[in-house]
Amino acid sequence: MSDSIQTIQVCTSPAYTVSIGPGLLRICGQRLRDVLGTCHVAVITDSTVAPLYLGVVTGSLQTAGFAVSSYVFPTGEARKNFDTLSGILEFLAEERLTRTDCVVALGGGVTGDMAGFAAAVYLRGIRCVQLPTTLLSAVDSSVGGKTAIDLKAGKNLAGAFLQPAAVLCDTDCLRSLPPDVFADGAAEAIKTGVLSDEGLFSLFEDGTLTAAPGEVIARCVAYKAGVVERDEKEQNERRLLNLGHTVGHAIEKCSGYAIPHGHAVAAGLAVIARSAEKLGWTESPIADRIAACLAKNGLPTGTEYPAEVLAHAASADKKRTGGDITLVIPRRMGACTLKKMPVSELLPVIAAGLEG
Ligand code: GLY
Repeated sequence: MSDSIQTIQVCTSPAYTVSIGPGLLRICGQRLRDVLGTCHVAVITDSTVAPLYLGVVTGSLQTAGFAVSSYVFPTGEARKNFDTLSGILEFLAEERLTRTDCVVALGGGVTGDMAGFAAAVYLRGIRCVQLPTTLLSAVDSSVGGKTAIDLKAGKNLAGAFLQPAAVLCDTDCLRSLPPDVFADGAAEAIKTGVLSDEGLFSLFEDGTLTAAPGEVIARCVAYKAGVVERDEKEQNERRLLNLGHTVGHAIEKCSGYAIPHGHAVAAGLAVIARSAEKLGWTESPIADRIAACLAKNGLPTGTEYPAEVLAHAASADKKRTGGDITLVIPRRMGACTLKKMPVSELLPVIAAGLEG
């Protein structure tokens, strides 16, 4: 089985390995013992993932000699808040985890963000392992050490950087994903193709993503690993990974987080591509190709929210510095650029990208 497991090194501080392949949850205990030594691990997961995978994960960890506690919170982006974070932190304290122990995030992006944030602040920081079970967390959020919760003012506004001690991505989990949850991850993967590589982008046009998701995840992770190694704390190049996210986060916020992250990012990507083309910022037309690819993967290519509402919501985005905001602009397939502009100029940019 290990022949089919691919590994990617992420050379940050600390450095860690992302393993991608089938059957990893069943053998997570032995894999993690090599990385962590035996210690007390707290598995944090949500009410959707717990019935599917919590048993196999705790069983594997216990067999490998770990002391295991587990905490389950209700599923959903609306739970990515201080109340849930506080519940996790109180649990870690009640279970008496110490500085040599470890949090294990089992689930999608919400779980990875919140469990990672809890690990980053509990006892001023303990180790965290990411076990992504969705395509979105596999291709993006489990790698790179961003952790956060949402505030009333906007998404991911309180958080910390904590690189994981390891990431184990079991591709068997993707089989249990409902189509719209799979599509959510496809949005972040398509974003990676637009950013990095026309060849990768074409895999979302020809159906390779569904046929061989492990290959696609490995290519997305390898690209992200390079970016994160060069700019761990998002001072410069890493900001490119926010392609589609300024409008995407605004859409999520306007919907009260009813529109899932990937769907909102897809719409945000389509909007910024259309707007970049209309405003003459692209070298060749790409907006129609991006929209067709998003639609083929079950994703939206626009939004019902008016430009004024989106621009207002985006003005609280954390990508703002003083009175400016930095947008990620696609120039051609596989190449994007950062464009800083006054927040006051956001409205016409968003308006240019809306359909109709
Ligand atoms: N999801 C974007 C990043 O990790 O920087």
